[in-house]
Amino acid sequence: MTTTNILETRDLVVDYQQHRAIDRLNLAVPAGCVYALLGGNGAGKTTTISTFLGFNRPTGGQVLIGGRSLQEQPDLVKAELAYLPENVALYDLLSGAENLRFFCALAGIELSRDQAGRLLSDSGLQADAHDKRVGQYSKGMRQKVGLAIASAKHAKAMLLDEPTSGLDPSAANDFAQRIRAAADGGMAVLMATHDLFNAKQVADRIGIMKQGRLVEEFDAHSVQHDELETKYLAHARGLA
Ligand SMILES: Nc1ncnc2c1ncn2[C@@H]1O[C@H](COP(=O)(O)OP(=O)(O)OP(=O)(O)O)[C@@H](O)[C@H]1O
Ligand SMILES: [Mg+2]
Repeated sequence: MTTTNILETRDLVVDYQQHRAIDRLNLAVPAGCVYALLGGNGAGKTTTISTFLGFNRPTGGQVLIGGRSLQEQPDLVKAELAYLPENVALYDLLSGAENLRFFCALAGIELSRDQAGRLLSDSGLQADAHDKRVGQYSKGMRQKVGLAIASAKHAKAMLLDEPTSGLDPSAANDFAQRIRAAADGGMAVLMATHDLFNAKQVADRIGIMKQGRLVEEFDAHSVQHDELETKYLAHARGLA
């Protein structure tokens, strides 16, 4: 049986003017897999994510979503992907539930109050916060509303850029569990992160990028936390 990769790049090259940000990247994320993309500042993680989202035009190679070419079918982004940035943009004067219903309505999804409540609870937002204004929310609570919006879309894949940056360890752990649950429900998840601990905790596969290339890739369950740190630092210091 062959597994279809939900997110895939084949020999992807992305240039910003004269600068090569992605250099023949081959990445594959099947359904149900959390893939953590690690790498130092400027390694190309955000560029990889934004290329999947159609913000960058590849200079070379291919981007495939569910086995179909993004270059040929740009509408695939809207239909199949959910994106969670580091700072989720929400309306501060609306409650979490109102934000969720509003953003879903924009995407053509009508949610009842009950459905919105269930989605927020499933995303880990405590019930007494659902009707409070988002302006009073912590960063972790805003992330949960973002996750609820992404879940409502029933996207095949979710892309996250540094989702746990600035979250306290307990909030990061809680968030990691929600991401795990989304993948266990069949989603493919690609997550750029600097949080090695969180990557080890939630990911199935880990890739380390450097200068636009995937320099190492391994099964997350095959390494211990300290081995992961050693591998990461070896690449960062040019020793690997
Ligand atoms: N809009 C842009 N115009 C020109 N160069 C860019 C642009 N965005 C990123 N770059 C360059 O592309 C390379 C990859 O950047 P990218 O933002 O993808 O890295 P990153 O791995 O996400 O880094 P970080 O960990 O700091 O978020 C870097 O050399 C960066 O300077
Ligand atoms: Mg980045």
